[in-house]
Amino acid sequence: MPATVAVGTQFGDEGKGKIIDFLADRADVVVRFQGGANAGHTVQVGEDLYAFHLLPSGVLRKRTMNLIGNGVVIEPGQLLKEIDETRERGHPVKNLRISDRAHVVMPYHKILDALEEKLKGNLGAGTTLRGIGPVFEDKVGRFGIRMCDLIDPETLRAKLRAIVPIKQRLIEAYGGDERLDAEAIFAEYAAHGERLAPFVIDTSAWLDSALRRGKRILFEGAQGTHLCIDHGVYPFGTSSDCVAGAASVGAGVGPQFLTDILGVAKAFTSRVGAGPFPTELEGPIAEHLRERGGGEYGTTTRRPRRVGWIDLVMLRMSVRVNGLTALALTKLDVLGGLDRVRACVAYRSDGETVKEFPASMRLLSQCGPVYRDFKGWPEFSEGDWIGIAERGRRALPETTRKFVAFIESQLKIPVRIVSVGRSRAATIGR
Ligand code: IMP
Ligand code: MG
Repeated sequence: MPATVAVGTQFGDEGKGKIIDFLADRADVVVRFQGGANAGHTVQVGEDLYAFHLLPSGVLRKRTMNLIGNGVVIEPGQLLKEIDETRERGHPVKNLRISDRAHVVMPYHKILDALEEKLKGNLGAGTTLRGIGPVFEDKVGRFGIRMCDLIDPETLRAKLRAIVPIKQRLIEAYGGDERLDAEAIFAEYAAHGERLAPFVIDTSAWLDSALRRGKRILFEGAQGTHLCIDHGVYPFGTSSDCVAGAASVGAGVGPQFLTDILGVAKAFTSRVGAGPFPTELEGPIAEHLRERGGGEYGTTTRRPRRVGWIDLVMLRMSVRVNGLTALALTKLDVLGGLDRVRACVAYRSDGETVKEFPASMRLLSQCGPVYRDFKGWPEFSEGDWIGIAERGRRALPETTRKFVAFIESQLKIPVRIVSVGRSRAATIGR
């Protein structure tokens, strides 16, 4: 049975939460496979808004099972908070399972995240301070604590006794004055482990049997291709692999199941955090995009997002490194009311045309955009857009359709879903 992978194609915040919620309607299982509480997925149900960091976006649908795979790093206190808050809002959250192999974010990871960011100066990515870099450092360095350790008090205590003194020395060497208390950390985290234990299973084995029974699986990417540790704007991205192939590693399924690979792209570009951004805008158009965007402010950090025109150089690379088979284009409504809409088709650097996204941040920062201009489309209210969505693609204003068709021709993949508002109804699916 083929599975769908939905991944971000830009710098995260493409509207994946909404698209995944839309697709989850037809999925039996939703799986997170990378990232951690640095992610922020916004889902709207009726008038209610939910912002999830660790919970998979299918958790509000009772018949959908939600897995947190081994590739995710879990901050247990944050996950429990999300579970509790979602329960208080009337959802029982019985449809959740967590991989026994997922790594755990510990308090010293967050301390080290802040210290490392400070010491890095201009190399700092402007992280979410969720301890993401340090927890992945520990995973690769084999200092990590996994969910199977968190729910096993004896192992947890033994590991903390070995690891905490090392982290204390690191904190001091980095100039930090925080004092770690291994016993206090043990007590707090063993309690988290006890509460989370009923959810912890071998998710890879569970998925294998679901696939064999013909269940429809949806893999939910977090962040985006250009934040990927391997393919992103290194060192200004995140510490996990954010591309479609990571679903295989981060959930423990064979790559042959990943046949339907949907990239989510916003009709413009945004990013939170540092790093070169060739199509970045300032001034009234940037304000328009930020404010109409329903508040382009980081879901996790509330920082104002940097915004710019859609960048097809970035997106062409995303098509390639993910093997995208289709695109979901979001927030087309946000461009409404602008006289002119632009799409970057190439870069210019030193009098040369640059068609491939550079690896070097020095070279990327020298790249200026080459734009194709489009006539804009009128601004409609949310209700108008829902009316258009109900009538389907052909009801979109002609100028909008031209813009979408141009993106399809440049990327050589179909735009399968168009989103024109936050709600489930403001979605045109094919
Ligand atoms: P970290 O993942 O917290 O280490 O942050 C590394 C970089 O990725 C920073 O520039 C963050 O702003 C950015 N980042 C991480 N997660 C997300 C996300 O879910 N959406 C948007 N940006 C993100
Ligand atoms: Mg987000």
